[in-house]
Amino acid sequence: MHFKNLTIVDNPFIKRDLTILRNKNTQPNEFRLALKRISFSLAIAVSQNLEFAEIKVETPLEITTGYKLKNEVILVPVLRAGLSLVEPFLEMIPDANVGHIGLQRDEKTLKPVDYYYKTPKFSDKSLTILLDPMLATGGSASAAFNFLKERGAKKCMLVNLIAAPEGVLKLQNEHPDIPIYTASLDRQLNKNGYILPGLGDAGDRTFGTI
Ligand code: PRP
Ligand code: URA
Repeated sequence: MHFKNLTIVDNPFIKRDLTILRNKNTQPNEFRLALKRISFSLAIAVSQNLEFAEIKVETPLEITTGYKLKNEVILVPVLRAGLSLVEPFLEMIPDANVGHIGLQRDEKTLKPVDYYYKTPKFSDKSLTILLDPMLATGGSASAAFNFLKERGAKKCMLVNLIAAPEGVLKLQNEHPDIPIYTASLDRQLNKNGYILPGLGDAGDRTFGTI
């Protein structure tokens, strides 16, 4: 299956850590650490898409060329599960600002219900990175981008750990301008909207609320 705008980030560490995340016996502390390690790989992959400006830097010996990020980055985790990606992304992009979007899927309709929004002011040049480990039906991510765009976000992308083809398709139809970075494109959704093979409920597994 090939999707436009979808980058699957892959390396042996990601493969190992996805195995830890998928394992139903993995406990929340180990789950959070594996998720954090994958997030570093995703942040490095995303950096290929960021613009850097050349600057002068003075070493103890001479002046040479250095680099710094050109534009503001705004990280927006989708509560709750997206919170785990914030710390590793902030470690790689320490100057980033952080907004929050609270969305929860209604278990019956599978439609996202919003309960919290707070984001920094967007400028024309800022890059907004939506962080959410799961892209299932795509309802939550699509609603989040509607909200962000209504409030002025221009350049956006989604960083995700596991995507279902159904969610990628929905997002590409409703937000064709959004690049998606994921660590795995899984097979399909089950009838309850869970990703197969997936890892279960990311929020519950991260915070031990099963
Ligand atoms: C999960 C996940 C996404 C959403 C994806 O959140 O973190 O936000 O489901 O599903 P969708 O693509 O079908 O919309 P959930 O609703 O479980 O909330 P939680 O993080 O608070 O547990
Ligand atoms: N949300 C999750 O946390 N997991 C899924 O498989 C689907 C939606």
